[in-house]
Amino acid sequence: MIPRLAPLLSLPTLIALGVALSAAVSSAATAPSSGRAAATASAEDYRVAELRCEYLTEPRGIDVLQPRLSWRLESARRGAAQTGWQVLVATTSEKLAHDEADLWDSGRVAGPQTHQVVYAGRPLGARQVCHWKVRSWDEQARPSRWSDAATWSTGLLHAGDWTATWISFRDDSPTHTERQKLELPPAAHYRKEFSAAQPVRRATIYASALGLYELHLNGARVGDGYFEPGWADYAQRGYYRTHDVTALMRRGANALGAIVADGWYAGYVGYGQLVGYGPHRTGRNLYGHTPALLAQLEIEYADGTRETVGTDPTWRVTRAGPIREADLLMGESYDARAELGRWAEPGYDAARWESAVPATTNGRREAPFSDVVGTRTVDLGFQAPPRLQAYSAPPIRITQELPARKVTQPKPGAYLFDFGQNFAGNVRLRIKGPPGTKITLRYGEMLHRDGTLMTENLRKARATDTYILRGDPGGEVWSPRFTYHGFQFVEVTGVTEPPPLETLTGLVMHNDTPLRGRFECSDEVMTRFAQNAQWTQRANYFEIPTDCPQRDERLGWMGDAQAYVRTASFNADIAAFFTKWLDDVEEAQRSFGAYPDYAPYPMAHGTPGKTFGTAWTDAGVICPWTIWKVYGDTRVIERHWGSMTRFMGWRQASTAVDGTGASIGNPWGDWLNVDDPTPVEYVDTCYHALVCTQMADLAEAIGRASEATLYRDRAARVRKAFAARYVEKDGRLGVPSQTAHVLALWAEMLDPKLQAPIAAQLADKIAASGHRMTTGFLGTRALLLALSEHGQHDMAVRLFQNRQYPSWGYEVVNGATTVWERWDSFTTEHGFEGRNGRQNAAMNSFSHYAFGAVMEWAYRVLAGIDTAGPGYRHIVIRPRPPSAARNPDVAPIHWVRAQYDSHHGRIASAWRQTPEKFELDVTIPPNTTASVWLPARDAGQVTESDAPITTGDGIRVEEKAAGALRLEVGAGSYHFAVPRINSP
Ligand code: BGC
Repeated sequence: MIPRLAPLLSLPTLIALGVALSAAVSSAATAPSSGRAAATASAEDYRVAELRCEYLTEPRGIDVLQPRLSWRLESARRGAAQTGWQVLVATTSEKLAHDEADLWDSGRVAGPQTHQVVYAGRPLGARQVCHWKVRSWDEQARPSRWSDAATWSTGLLHAGDWTATWISFRDDSPTHTERQKLELPPAAHYRKEFSAAQPVRRATIYASALGLYELHLNGARVGDGYFEPGWADYAQRGYYRTHDVTALMRRGANALGAIVADGWYAGYVGYGQLVGYGPHRTGRNLYGHTPALLAQLEIEYADGTRETVGTDPTWRVTRAGPIREADLLMGESYDARAELGRWAEPGYDAARWESAVPATTNGRREAPFSDVVGTRTVDLGFQAPPRLQAYSAPPIRITQELPARKVTQPKPGAYLFDFGQNFAGNVRLRIKGPPGTKITLRYGEMLHRDGTLMTENLRKARATDTYILRGDPGGEVWSPRFTYHGFQFVEVTGVTEPPPLETLTGLVMHNDTPLRGRFECSDEVMTRFAQNAQWTQRANYFEIPTDCPQRDERLGWMGDAQAYVRTASFNADIAAFFTKWLDDVEEAQRSFGAYPDYAPYPMAHGTPGKTFGTAWTDAGVICPWTIWKVYGDTRVIERHWGSMTRFMGWRQASTAVDGTGASIGNPWGDWLNVDDPTPVEYVDTCYHALVCTQMADLAEAIGRASEATLYRDRAARVRKAFAARYVEKDGRLGVPSQTAHVLALWAEMLDPKLQAPIAAQLADKIAASGHRMTTGFLGTRALLLALSEHGQHDMAVRLFQNRQYPSWGYEVVNGATTVWERWDSFTTEHGFEGRNGRQNAAMNSFSHYAFGAVMEWAYRVLAGIDTAGPGYRHIVIRPRPPSAARNPDVAPIHWVRAQYDSHHGRIASAWRQTPEKFELDVTIPPNTTASVWLPARDAGQVTESDAPITTGDGIRVEEKAAGALRLEVGAGSYHFAVPRINSP
């Protein structure tokens, strides 16, 4: 509890905060001082922090020319709020320090905006470094100090800004044609020596690759990102990155190097090999045959002159280096005896290396490409991506290191390391031994009963790395660079003596989306589940939102992404990650308008002729809608509006005359339900109505009122058609499944008077099946939301806490550290084989986030943290404790502690319920307001920090509903207590 420091909110401040006036406002605002500490506020305890540009901290090389700036306000004062702001942007740090804003001086702008502030200064060109700072005026119009300075820079904006040319090695190797045999070529090392004649003021590398690159300058690795430049449909577009390498430059001789591997461009992707897709059905070379590199180092000397060192045929290249294999799915092989020494330093003798060639040299290379659409001829030769785009997500980084917890020896010579946590990434190997010793590392998520590594669920992903020692007496340290694995266990073979625990360190990798949420409750099984969901997200927000990190899949499955996106937004700041992926999604949109099953979409899968599926295709609207809702981002709507409109046009055209679903594509529907299917036409009708409603919201958000009306009318028509087709005369649903009931409630398909009865019927069904849910991906995401919203909250909490199969708790009590793909991924009866007896060999991931989507409910409903309107400007804190003693299996949750670091700062809701009282600790960040709901009959019952609330102090009593009281508060921390009555 933070002691209160602030005076009462003044009436003008409340108006500035956009709070509606009411009698309660004036009574609170004019109430005499409560006598509690009311220290004089000063701008000293009101600070501007966390300056970000396009959601990123200090981004380099962005290609958004009117970027959106944001900052966060810090103050422990109650009611702290911004009434005005000023941004200065300058071309140099010196100018900025002297307030010489030669790019932009916004002047003092009145208002509360701290996010999505659009740069409106001088037009920005390529390579522009922008130095900026902010000050903010508080609720009493006192200015803060200037913030610390931050920077962003623009990248290369036009094709003409690139003078470097795409290069490769000369590649005469045949295209791989043997599907059953792996083809795993070595990585290529490139180098170029050059001289920097003058002292360097600034040096910047812009780089792209068809494949993956790792850059080195003067012996040092450039940056801390991995898997650069990223995955796009290279025939349409490539990503490039920008690195500031000023600190790595030397006066005189310098050397620039790059290691380039197949990556998504030429390596194995998805289940291509398993099912026989891609060129010659091998599952590799989906985009091309020979990786290529494009790099441009631009040096600005202190005297103002400039020099550019770009890739061209004067570079040298070798494929005789230590990285003998480097594949995302299959693994990496490293022969330390073939190390190249100081290959990225000046003076290195590269006489035995070859000259690089222009990438075009390798010419056309035709091959038959097969997928479910059929077989066609493609050209796997080099084609420069028509467009290069700056990468807009945070890079993939090593975000955490995990020590090994345990080593066992389940069979002679095989040592099993257990990290105690399933995750995605790599290991660091520390080893000593004779030269030529070959160490093999195999990765897996689970163990067989005999303690050996379980790898059947990896399908065709070999997930094996090898390291051959050079025999360094001081020991050797190695990590793979161009592969990653989803694992908890690593089997080490080839060691000459039992390896100590320190032999392996786990390297946790993912796009570095800052972690934002934390959820704990009195049920420790579900506290662990909350962590499992966050771990699963980290394992799968890897370049794109993947379905799973371990097997030969890792595709951006849209159904999973849409089901989970809101939960994801609680766990981490996903705004920039989705900004990037939604471009991939639009790029993958089918020519006829549907969004595909996964994005990127290098091969078509599913039912022949179908490249989309109900609820999967709808991710193209649901994800942007969620990003708008959570971050107040309207640009994402504008950017994809044309695409979303085309999608909605297709959806309309492929809908039956009565508005119910007709063209459902791949019929996954309520995927992985437990013997309780729902017709896909039914699901489609619900999702159609949902996306119409969301499109109406999005249209309104960007001022397209007439389109909003059209979409709302269309949603109403679809709902009418739904009622005609699926609601029986007695008000029951014609489809008996749990998910049918859930979707009807969640997608608001029903006449309001039918909602409570249908929810009661749903609860009865669940009770009749032994308090078990039977829902799949789609139903599970919405199940508890629908129950809680419509009078069945105790049932929702009971399901949340269930430990029996199928349930979230069942996973945890069976040792899960991540969320499983299937309810029966492992059962005590059937082991890994599930009810169908063949799960493991088919698809059985232990790191699949879709069922983790229940955490949306845990944050929004159980903890009660939500946004009213977009962007958490006005927050809703409405905790929902269950009634006591309604669960015969396990004690109902009686306390929850949750926090979510929104763009405005920390929002916290911690409640505790005893037989005597209900207590709630709330934190509301500066510059926001909140409606706080308490289970109280009237304000007289409630105390705040042990004093009656009616005395004011920024708290207004707004509404009394049955057994619930709504208070309006400003920023600050509050401790409420209510003598116990029924929950709201
Ligand atoms: C993926 C799923 C995905 C599904 C489509 C699976 O292979 O792992 O999560 O949504 O295919 O049915």
